[in-house]
Amino acid sequence: MTVKIGAIVGSISSTSINRALFNALVTLAPSAGVELTEIPIKELPFYTSDFDGDYPEVATDFKHAIEDADGIVIITPEYNRSVPGVLKNALDVASRPWGQNSFAGKPSAVIGASAGQIGTAVAQQHLRSVLSFFGSPELAQPEAYIWSKPGLITADGEVTDEATARFLTDWLTAVAAHVNRHSA
Ligand code: FNR
Repeated sequence: MTVKIGAIVGSISSTSINRALFNALVTLAPSAGVELTEIPIKELPFYTSDFDGDYPEVATDFKHAIEDADGIVIITPEYNRSVPGVLKNALDVASRPWGQNSFAGKPSAVIGASAGQIGTAVAQQHLRSVLSFFGSPELAQPEAYIWSKPGLITADGEVTDEATARFLTDWLTAVAAHVNRHSA
């Protein structure tokens, strides 16, 4: 059975290498028994507790999309050894109102691409800390730190290196197994 995964891309840049990575994962997903659909964050307002009594519709739609998915993949850039503010804001929106955290119990997995050699490793550790606090069971292994050299993944998601394509497909297969384990 196809596993329905929601994908959050932590960059709103028009030339994002993490969006290219998302596009690659969408292309590879069927071979891993996965259907990958983006849950966009670009239109979310900055979270404030003023929302809690009357959550904005765009934020409620975002929360429902997370809740409706079998699992969530977060594709994060690394900004200053952490996650970009737009992504942290999206996670804060998802986590509230208090007691209604859309990530609670929702299986998740993290991946990211950077031109730096450690491939978003530090940002992913920060992200794992937030997901852990959420009570979201995270895929521990394999870790996925993508060192994005020029031309490795085209903007429309073609992976030009066979070993990288195989690694990403295997990673998606592990994500699907992780989600199935936690959905039982
Ligand atoms: C970066 N970049 C970066 N890269 C990295 O490997 N570690 C880091 O800590 C940072 N910090 C950082 C801060 C800020 C404010 C910017 C704008 C950039 C470089 C970053 O990885 C690169 O811009 C990527 O292309 C960002 O991902 P997207 O938006 O292309 O997906």
